Formats: sequence, structure tokens, C-alpha cells
Amino acid sequence: MIARTFRDRVVAPSLLAADFSKIGSEVSRAIHAGADWLHLDVMDGHFVDNISFGPAMVKTVHECNDIFLDVHLMISKPDHYLERFIAAGSDLISVHVEADHDVAETLKRIRRAGLLAGLVLNPATPLSAAEPYLRDIDLLLCMTVVPGFGGQAFMPEVLEKISHAVTLREKYGASFHIEVDGGIHAQTAKLCYTAGANVMVAGSSTFQAIDMSAAIHSIRNP
Ligand code: DX5
Ligand code: ZN
Repeated sequence: MIARTFRDRVVAPSLLAADFSKIGSEVSRAIHAGADWLHLDVMDGHFVDNISFGPAMVKTVHECNDIFLDVHLMISKPDHYLERFIAAGSDLISVHVEADHDVAETLKRIRRAGLLAGLVLNPATPLSAAEPYLRDIDLLLCMTVVPGFGGQAFMPEVLEKISHAVTLREKYGASFHIEVDGGIHAQTAKLCYTAGANVMVAGSSTFQAIDMSAAIHSIRNP
């Protein structure tokens, strides 16, 4: 498991954009192309208007590979399903601040299980909603699209939230990663690094690139 620090650049291809008919070889392809982490988008058809996959997929990927699994729960009751995603082999679990749960308690449970804990903000959610938890997280995910679907356009208005998160991280002496997710490719990654993010989730621009390793390289060093 490679945890890295918030000073390191991390590229996390999102499996949502992979070819589901050959998931095992798609994961190997991402690893060989230089993926640092693999991002797994779990959607319940309720918190977001799409249904993707659940713990069985996380377990399958975990059993075939050593890559760090960054699991993004877009589900209404993350606390209810938490143990299943922990048992499935997640390395980091991110939960939305907007979901229906005791956020502090869910984050505590993730860390108690020995995993990294992430907190996610939708584009419309202000940073103040995450502020009470900033000392208790390993990663803050600022969504750069409205979650639910891959292939959407990056929302530049989120950049200000990222810069503000950097300021608050210093204020609290915290060391969480800042991750962005949605519409990330080399050009938008550059804007996100400048604002202070270090973990780039990228679905379409990696799995659907002609040359995945060139795509990952260009997102890491735009
Ligand atoms: C969106 C998901 C993303 C998605 C990103 O709801 O959280 O992780 O897979 O896809 P792209 O990179 O295609 O915007
Ligand atoms: Zn995601």
C-alpha cells in the first residue's frame, strides 16, 4: 500500500471508464500504464442518479492486485455499508458530507479499521461543511463535476475551494491530501495542482486514451 504525502502527485484512474467486459485486464492495463492509485466509484442510484457497483467489485479488484484502492462512496447511507467495503479490501474510503450519516463517527470507524479516511464535497457544498472534520481526515475530495457520471466537463469555480482548503490545512496543521474528481485531463490537472490539489482522479482521459501511459504521464506532469 502506497500512502504518499500531500506533497506527492498521485494519478488515480477511475474504473468507471474501463471496459467492464474485461475488468481484470483493464486494472492491469492501468497499473502497467503507471497508475498510482485506482479510484472506484460506488453509486447506489439514490445519492446519485446512477448505479455502478458494490463491494463485490472492490473485492475482485483487491484479490487480483496490490494497487492502492481509493473507494469513493456515492451512497446515501455510507455507515450502513461501511464494514462491507472495509472487508472488501479498500485502502481509503471517502464519504460525502452531504450523505445521511454521522460524519465524524463514520470517519472514525474508517480510521479505526486501519484505512485512510476521505471526506467529499459536491461542487455546490461550501468548504465550511467540511471544516469541523479537517483534523480527522487523510483526504479531502473536492468534486469538480456533479457526481453520477463520467465524461462531464470540469467546473473551474471549484478551484477557489481548493485554494481555501490549502489555507485551512495550514491553519489546522493538518496533512490531508486534496483530491479532485471529474473532467480531469492534462490541462485541468495543471489548474488543480496550481490551486493546491495533489490527487487527480481521471476516468475518460485515462481508460479511453489511445495511449494510457502517455495520458497518465501528462496528467502527472502537465
Ligand atoms: C463522477 C465520478 C468520477 C468519474 C470521473 O461521479 O466520481 O470518479 O468516474 O470521470 P471523468 O474523469 O470521465 O470525468
Ligand atoms: Zn469518483
